[in-house]
Amino acid sequence: MTDETASEASPPAPDPIPIRLVEKSSLETVLGSLQAEEAAWARANGFKGRLGQALAIPSDTGQVAGILLGWGDAEGRRRERFPIGSFAGRAPAGTYRLDTPLDGPDAQRATLGWLLSRYRFDRYKSKPAGTEEADLLPPPGVDATRLAILVQGSYLARDLINTPANDMGPDELEAAARKLADRHSAEVQVIQGDELLERDLPLIHAVGRASARAPRLIDMVWGAEDAPKLSLVGKGVCFDTGGLDIKSASGMALMKKDMGGAANVLALAHMIMARRIPVRLRVLIPAVENAVSGSAFRPGDVLPSRKGLFVEINNTDAEGRLVLADALAVAAEEMPDLILDMATLTGAARVALGPEVVPYYTDDAGLAADLEAAGEAEADPLWRLPLWPGYERMIEPKVGDLDNAPSGGMAGSITAALFLKRFAGEGAWAHFDLYGWTPSDRPGRPKGGECQAARACLGALERRYGA
Ligand code: BES
Ligand code: MN
Ligand code: ZN
Repeated sequence: MTDETASEASPPAPDPIPIRLVEKSSLETVLGSLQAEEAAWARANGFKGRLGQALAIPSDTGQVAGILLGWGDAEGRRRERFPIGSFAGRAPAGTYRLDTPLDGPDAQRATLGWLLSRYRFDRYKSKPAGTEEADLLPPPGVDATRLAILVQGSYLARDLINTPANDMGPDELEAAARKLADRHSAEVQVIQGDELLERDLPLIHAVGRASARAPRLIDMVWGAEDAPKLSLVGKGVCFDTGGLDIKSASGMALMKKDMGGAANVLALAHMIMARRIPVRLRVLIPAVENAVSGSAFRPGDVLPSRKGLFVEINNTDAEGRLVLADALAVAAEEMPDLILDMATLTGAARVALGPEVVPYYTDDAGLAADLEAAGEAEADPLWRLPLWPGYERMIEPKVGDLDNAPSGGMAGSITAALFLKRFAGEGAWAHFDLYGWTPSDRPGRPKGGECQAARACLGALERRYGA
């Protein structure tokens, strides 16, 4: 059967439902342009054009003729990252189109917000709600293929973080990396358990050895051998009890998300490979569980590292920088063009910038400029903090070369970044201390695991290497 006969046989697709964005200030103009019954309906329903306020306009036959979506004012739209999400997140099944022209960046933001708000995590619902398909036709000028890739990556990060630790241990994180590698014909090697000691990865081993689920270093490679080398390193602490310096119940409650760095580098890796960015990509994920048992590493231990530096353990809950130290050392050995690492590294980052804005660190001003521009363009907010040389002494202890948890708690995110810097080599490097979680539902950002910094990094990499 040919496509033509197929389309003749199926009923004609209904016209897409127009969505009219109504600014508060143009409410009367818009209502004046509608049919009298429609304007009366809008008034009777109290439609005022408040940001996110949505109203369906019925047709004569009881269908939805169109949507009025309140677009508030410019100040309100600055406060809400994805204002379209309040409607998109609960839109009835159908195909929609924007009836109000937006300029390029706003059209892209609206499309991204629409897609991100359609996310559901229903793996553990025995009766899934059965999400209705509500699609937005991309407005003219929006690169829908590229956005789809960004959204696939964002969903991947959310899914991995949302999956509870009982189903997302080092094994399952490795399986997720292998699945992604298969999809893009990348290669994966894994160093696991006691082999970590033989292969000189002592910190990854020390942090993960107390768990019944073996620690490992996941190592994925993709792309042309002779392309510029880009290495991504992601903290894969599948659960963080704090170790012997055990966390309180409230401090531990969300620690399934402590592999959020790994989830986000896998998201970014997907975007890079799907977009075929011309790099030789390497993804390194130390995957461990920071557990409590007789074989746990202890406060006061002094541990060797791959780099050769001795690390004095002053708090077993500062485990992320330990596993990253060995992984960063591996990355730096081949002197790549660029290293990016992502980690849910410190509570101090959240205290400084809250859950929405990701602090990042780099000494490379050009890279920072690209990240800043891309963060804005991809609705993925970042804020640069300093690798403040004056605080280097805070990570230098009496006994070892480095202290994993300086006392006093000053500048906790900065001192963690300075610690990583000792292992990241001399080349270009940036570190993202992300939160990886949306604490309560916002338009386009459902409560739960969140993709952070990955879209901004993709944008910056497109600028650096070409798309
Ligand atoms: N995974 C945590 C950091 C964290 C906590 C991120 C809460 C997001 C939300 C990390 O391993 C940790 O426990 N860091 C300690 C370090 C301290 C002991 C120096 C922290 O930030 O309290
Ligand atoms: Mn910890
Ligand atoms: Zn942690």
